[in-house]
Amino acid sequence: MASLFAFLLALVLNLFNPSPSPSPSPSPSPSRSLSPSPSPSPSPSPSPSPRGEINSTAISDNLSVDFYKSSCPNVEQIVADVLRNKSQAHPGIVPGILRLYFHDCYITGCDASILLTPQRYNNHDVEMIHPANGNSLRGMKALDAAKEEVEKQCPGVLSCADLLSYAARDMVVFAGNPKYDVPAGRRDSFSTSGGLASALPTGNDTIAIQQKKFAERGLTLQDMVVLEGSHSIGRTRCQNTIAEDGSMDKMPDTAKFVDKQFEQKVKQRFCPESRHALFTSIRAPLVPDNPNNSDWGNSFYKHIIKGRTLLPFDISLAVEQTTKDMVHQYASDSALWQKMFNDAMIKLGKVNVLTGDQGEIRRKCGWINAVSTI
Ligand code: HEM
Repeated sequence: MASLFAFLLALVLNLFNPSPSPSPSPSPSPSRSLSPSPSPSPSPSPSPSPRGEINSTAISDNLSVDFYKSSCPNVEQIVADVLRNKSQAHPGIVPGILRLYFHDCYITGCDASILLTPQRYNNHDVEMIHPANGNSLRGMKALDAAKEEVEKQCPGVLSCADLLSYAARDMVVFAGNPKYDVPAGRRDSFSTSGGLASALPTGNDTIAIQQKKFAERGLTLQDMVVLEGSHSIGRTRCQNTIAEDGSMDKMPDTAKFVDKQFEQKVKQRFCPESRHALFTSIRAPLVPDNPNNSDWGNSFYKHIIKGRTLLPFDISLAVEQTTKDMVHQYASDSALWQKMFNDAMIKLGKVNVLTGDQGEIRRKCGWINAVSTI
């Protein structure tokens, strides 16, 4: 009864307050039911249960591993070759593209909306430059290069959403996991939503908050803990770290758990108080013990068990009752974590996708076709 009431209320609110759309927008499919909270934008469809139950309708079964078999049989090889070259020259692309994939799928689903350029929208209401993403995304140029190469060989075939899914898999493989098959057939959005991007995780969110947001996207607590292992590589802005004053106020047990010597080292070496005014832009390695993306994998869990990583959220995974057993399990079983990580990446890639005649196949990932041809 309560959920029926919540559904009707959300429906009425949507009728009176439709979501702003900066460009031609496809009608939302019934499965695209993201409702991040808190969000300044109205939700495009009924809110999920206030208890944060898993939204199983968010995960699509309409993708297939053979999708490009006849239209572009070498597509995965072309993408991998370009990205291998680019990532050898610029290793930061590896964590950068992994995060792009997560942030794309997390907001409105895996539809390449994160790749749409702010220039098209007069720098307004665009995921790419939302403060959670602004000046911290990387890998877009490498994706453009891969797309350009595919367009030469198979014009108008590969969506940018599928490109990003293949690219994220390639990064996982370059980092050190076994290869996995990527179901494909996603299409690209006509629009992007900076407002909804405020749901993106921050370094000091609590596990309960993120568990609820993951559930709204059809993802479990276990998916979250498993995917978090990608924080064994890459970097963070100091504003998100344990060096930021008050960053652990909401999690006193985690504050106690942090290795104090490590915390001092972070504060002296990477994020000194004297540079606090620059904490929104200066960066530190997510795992300072492996600053060069050198120790991908379950090492992440070993570090958080010692209270030795930068994000308060990550350390809290080793402290909270709901997650700490998983953390210990992945820390002691690398093969298990690798398998579960690959499975969770595949599942993440199915969140609220556009398929069939929804959306379009963008020719350039930064621009919807109607604009890039003008
Ligand atoms: C609740 C979950 C998560 C939280 C709270 C979180 C938080 C963060 C934060 C605060 C940063 C630093 C960003 C910056 O300051 O520039 C970061 C970076 C990163 N995140 Fe996450 N994240 C989460 C989930 C994920 C997932 C699911 C993935 C991948 C599947 C991922 C991959 C990465 C990577 C690879 C980086 C480094 C990016 C780079 O070096 O350019 N994160 N994350």
